[in-house]
Amino acid sequence: MARIPMIAGNWKMNTTVDEAVRLVKTMLPELDKVKGVDKVVCPPFVSLKAVGDVIKGSSVKLGAQNVFYKEKGAFTGEISPGMLAGLCEYVIIGHSERRQYFGDSEEIIDLKIKAAIESMLKPIFCVGESLEENEAGRTEEVLTRQIMASCEKLYFFGGIVIAYEPVWAIGTGKSATSEQANKTIGFIRALVRHRHGKEIADSVRILYGGSVTAANIAELMKMPEIDGALVGGASLKTDEFVSIARQASEVRGVS
Ligand code: PGA
Repeated sequence: MARIPMIAGNWKMNTTVDEAVRLVKTMLPELDKVKGVDKVVCPPFVSLKAVGDVIKGSSVKLGAQNVFYKEKGAFTGEISPGMLAGLCEYVIIGHSERRQYFGDSEEIIDLKIKAAIESMLKPIFCVGESLEENEAGRTEEVLTRQIMASCEKLYFFGGIVIAYEPVWAIGTGKSATSEQANKTIGFIRALVRHRHGKEIADSVRILYGGSVTAANIAELMKMPEIDGALVGGASLKTDEFVSIARQASEVRGVS
């Protein structure tokens, strides 16, 4: 069965509630028309409810950008999987900015993925090597460690999506080439196959992320291993994000 491509917008720490509502209202009419691709927007926590209300009944889905792994208690400032469960379908976990600035270790990410799945949230699990690791030829070693730390168990049954985001390509305007991304995503899929068998490896969606724009999405989507994109900067621009989703649908949309 063909994997349905996904285009997910990670709005990061941008937009007030009013701005988020305005942004999604501008995108929605065009985005809703794009067929054969899962379209997801991930606004900040405080805007999830308001954005969710706008997209209700449309084909656009909602994701959060992070989650804590405890269900409740004295964890000031954190948001639990149960709190998100009624609000959104997806949650980004292990983004490199979380790993880099907020101490999200492989162990913590593993706990978050498990907790999210137990609350019926679908993780968009981010992995990727740094520039130094890339230049030292350690990409495969790093990815093996990151994937194995969190996907050892049965998590793939929870509808997990993986996003390969080389850290050197995030927000830099320096995207990986489509061939590079295809090869590395193929490597990740082979890891999944080795661990969980062919059926799961063939069905898990693996996205590329890092300086994806309307100018490079078509090339990326032509690659057989790449099942879509996690888009940062370009997801805040209506025309750009709609064009990315539309092109993904033209190249690889599943009817
Ligand atoms: P970018 O970010 O598209 O701005 O490079 C991607 C991401 O961090 O998910």
